[in-house]
Amino acid sequence: MKSQFRGKHFITLQEWTKEEIDTLLDVSYDMKKKFAMGIPTPYLQYKTMFLMFFEQSTRTRNSMEAGFAQLGGHANYLDTSTMQISHGEVAKDTAIILSSYGDAIACRNCFWEIGNKYLREMAEYSRVPIINMQCDLYHPLQAIADLMTMQEKKKNLKRLKVSIIWAYAKSHKKPISVPLSQVLLFPRYGMDVCLAHPEGYPLPDWVIDQAKENARKHGGSVTVINSEAEAYKDADIVIPKNWGSWVTNQSDVVVDDLLEANRSWICTEEKMAMAKDDVIYLHALPADRGNEVVDSVIDGPHSVVFDAAENRLHTSKAVMVMTMNGR
Ligand code: CP
Repeated sequence: MKSQFRGKHFITLQEWTKEEIDTLLDVSYDMKKKFAMGIPTPYLQYKTMFLMFFEQSTRTRNSMEAGFAQLGGHANYLDTSTMQISHGEVAKDTAIILSSYGDAIACRNCFWEIGNKYLREMAEYSRVPIINMQCDLYHPLQAIADLMTMQEKKKNLKRLKVSIIWAYAKSHKKPISVPLSQVLLFPRYGMDVCLAHPEGYPLPDWVIDQAKENARKHGGSVTVINSEAEAYKDADIVIPKNWGSWVTNQSDVVVDDLLEANRSWICTEEKMAMAKDDVIYLHALPADRGNEVVDSVIDGPHSVVFDAAENRLHTSKAVMVMTMNGR
């Protein structure tokens, strides 16, 4: 069936077909090429979008805001603590109002068991596309930039071993949305996904079931283990990153006994040496340096974290052009 991109919500990549994601990647490469050549891309002139943030952001806010300016439009940054949301205005009313003023609404709401529901409610009542800038469950803007970066570095991704590895961190309680989005997306590109975490940090069962179904359809595989060493062994790509335990600790408290019992889950040069010689190291950032990863790895020759962060600009522009202008 022919895709209809204009007006399509971007809440999770699971709701975009493989063909649609391939087109999204094509447009991202085109955006990157034009940016490198200094060719203007005024595809969204005179359009307005709203960027609603319930949480802090460096990459997402600035890639969206800069990207939308480069497309000729105006992005209105909204700190939700200064909106009537803080007095209880509901998602439905906010979506109806903002969508009557502009051409898209992007939102970051990572509150556990609230964020995705909030976006879904906005999508139900908005006249314009809703773009997920990270919720409690999904971070599709990060996952698509990671996929683009892996393609650029490795070319054919089929049957490559990508290990998504839990890591210790105490900077803040990180959502499960990055590993969750990656474990769903990468098997659709035929990759062998190895998800490794200590006891107490599982992703929900329905995620693993969907990821395995994606692997079955597209020729990849998904394995879930508790061994860090096994995850690093012979990996083509490693993504060691913290996520909080939604099972045992749903509060905002970051440090607890379970976390402290797993301090050893830090990405080091010794662990990287267990992977393939040309392994690449990815992290969505911000990284908790010295806890999730040592400086010599994140600043070392295998690290492509800044390439992925840069690709957030090009992929975000592709998402905005397609959902606001696409056919
Ligand atoms: N990776 C990511 O989404 O970064 P920010 O939290 O800075 O937006």
